[in-house]
Amino acid sequence: MSMIDHVFQATTEYIGRMPKSLRKEYGQFFTSVETATFMADLFTIPAKGTISILDPGAGSGILSTALIERMQTYPTIKKIELVCYENDPNVLELLKSNLRWVCAQSIIDVSYQIVTDNYIVSQMPDYNHMIDANPNPRKYDLIIGNPPYKKIAKDAPEAVAMPDVCYGAPNLYFLFASMSLFNLRNGGEMVYIIPRSWTSGAYFKLFRQKLLSEGALEHIHLFASRDKVFEKESVLQETIIIKVKKSTNKPNSITVTSTHSNADFSNITVFEAPYATVVSGNESYVYLVTDSSEIDTLSRLNHLHDTLPTIGLKMKTGLTVDFRNLKALRDSAEGSAVPLFYSQHIQEGKVIFPVGKEHEYIVTDQEGLLQDNTNYLFVKRFTAKEEHRRLQCGVYLSKKHPEYQKISTQNKINFICGLHELSDCVVYGLYVLFNSTLYDCYYRVLNGSTQVNSTEVNTMPVPPLRDIEAMGKELLRVKDMSEESCDRILRSYI
Ligand SMILES: C[S@@+](CC[C@H](N)C(=O)[O-])C[C@H]1O[C@@H](n2cnc3c(N)ncnc32)[C@H](O)[C@@H]1O
Repeated sequence: MSMIDHVFQATTEYIGRMPKSLRKEYGQFFTSVETATFMADLFTIPAKGTISILDPGAGSGILSTALIERMQTYPTIKKIELVCYENDPNVLELLKSNLRWVCAQSIIDVSYQIVTDNYIVSQMPDYNHMIDANPNPRKYDLIIGNPPYKKIAKDAPEAVAMPDVCYGAPNLYFLFASMSLFNLRNGGEMVYIIPRSWTSGAYFKLFRQKLLSEGALEHIHLFASRDKVFEKESVLQETIIIKVKKSTNKPNSITVTSTHSNADFSNITVFEAPYATVVSGNESYVYLVTDSSEIDTLSRLNHLHDTLPTIGLKMKTGLTVDFRNLKALRDSAEGSAVPLFYSQHIQEGKVIFPVGKEHEYIVTDQEGLLQDNTNYLFVKRFTAKEEHRRLQCGVYLSKKHPEYQKISTQNKINFICGLHELSDCVVYGLYVLFNSTLYDCYYRVLNGSTQVNSTEVNTMPVPPLRDIEAMGKELLRVKDMSEESCDRILRSYI
């Protein structure tokens, strides 16, 4: 039996006897044999006699095992020095026995150390160059990791230990990745399997900037079916694998590979994407392009220099959290009630009201829940995975509801508004953008989740306001609200 099969079998037995609730406390999910082998294969093995490896959050040691197994075929390697961090006492016995077994099988001399301290907190002084820091902290050639995926509080010890990458709600996975970057020697490589959420979004900006300035992103692997990676463990986060070299020199291109699932890497798609297309903009977003048509989408929009805010517009999230304001909600237009718009009111490009839905009116004098009854483009915040479009929008014209001064929007929709009232043509022009294939594709490459996040939409490139207005006029002229019609109109401007 191969080393990795042995370790996998022992891990499967452990999963069988250890309740999921206990493993969850540590964010513990195990990598499959195929994924671990694929990750180990991504490294460029250095031409050295002794190679140091770090496995932070080692679990049962499957990732270290995959890498040691691969090295068996390298006659130049005389010694492997492995360090595993793992702080869950329940899994330590398994880790020890697995490593003991692997060392006994290995034809290369392997020494290993298991550190049972907290990987983040125990290195805080070194990471922050504090007075009690080790002046020569240990650095590694190769780091292989599947870190815990766990949101933590802003004042959790791990978050406090890494102030340079924390903003908003931190997650252990990117603290692990930042610490690993610190633990790498210059020119060393790390391969990590992590959620894709860090590639966009404000909470991850500091992490992205650090990773992309101190490291060179060389390889990204995507799984086409988003929830298959940890199917046994039902981790629903969309996961990617990244390879980063510790270097300030950026590559010209990034290799992007993709497979359908984590169980079969034989049918792999390989694509070389220009580095400057994948990593771009002030926000250092990472655009996960998989083919040349997506590169084409990005380059068609990226030469536009405006965004919604630079032309005096903004996407905002709906104002009312309905379940927190139950007493104010009404089913009918009684007294001073005003319309409360939900995603159900967005239908085929229009905003239809009322639809006979419960709680579609609100009675309130809280200013924070009300907005002027003016023109808006409403955009759904949530769509189902299998739906054809991520961006689904509807034109809201205030003249259809002249009886109201104010209206409200549920927080499950977004709306685009202006500093001044938007003309009908501008709203229809925005509809052309947000109902086009190009913008939908751009948003998908930018953000893999099914949620439409207003912060990200506000960073997307848009044409000048006069072009948007002209597109709206054209849409009103042709009277065809379909995606194809929007694509046709947009094509003549972009
Ligand atoms: C997602 S699991 C991955 C396990 C293993 N590397 C694999 O790929 O199968 C993350 C591991 O990190 C460990 N862990 C969580 N927080 C830790 C910390 N602060 N320091 C060290 N290990 C930690 C968990 O107990 C868990 O075993």
